[in-house]
Amino acid sequence: MEQECAVFTLILLCLIIEMIQGDTVTQPSKSTLVKETENTTIHCNYDGTASYLFWYIQDPNQAPQLILSHYSKQEDIPPRFRNRFSASHNNTEKIFHLNITAAVLSDSATYFCALSPTL
Ligand SMILES: *[C@@H]1O[C@H](CO)[C@@H](O)[C@H](O)[C@H]1NC(C)=O
Ligand SMILES: *[C@@H]1O[C@H](CO)[C@@H](O)[C@H](O)[C@H]1NC(C)=O
Ligand SMILES: *[C@@H]1O[C@H](CO)[C@@H](O)[C@H](O)[C@H]1NC(C)=O
Repeated sequence: MEQECAVFTLILLCLIIEMIQGDTVTQPSKSTLVKETENTTIHCNYDGTASYLFWYIQDPNQAPQLILSHYSKQEDIPPRFRNRFSASHNNTEKIFHLNITAAVLSDSATYFCALSPTL
């Protein structure tokens, strides 16, 4: 039997949630496969105008946890994600992609891009 290095594959699921006056609209997106130490980007494209944009992570059997919002600075980001997770908002292109640097196995989770539209 051939010996191979164990390479863990992380599965990142992404959902886009629009919060409209207390209601949420969820739009499932495709999942991304990433190997440990790789960099990846999880895409969030939205329609309309957004006044607040957030990325949440949900670990299995846990409540969603805020990673960052469009106005977060690195020092505001929880230590688990700090300096590895970043997102930049482009209001013209209507994108709020989440970049993950040097993925670790515990990044394997469901990610939510949430936005609060301008009313
Ligand atoms: C991942 O991103 C980091 C920080 O931007 C960079 O230094 C590194 O070279 C990137 N790695 C790969 C494999 O692209
Ligand atoms: C995210 O990664 C993309 C592709 O590597 C890069 O063009 C972009 O500048 C990065 N954005 C941030 C906020 O790091
Ligand atoms: C947003 O995207 C537009 C269109 O591609 C580009 O012209 C603009 O420079 C981008 N803005 C930022 C802040 O990156």
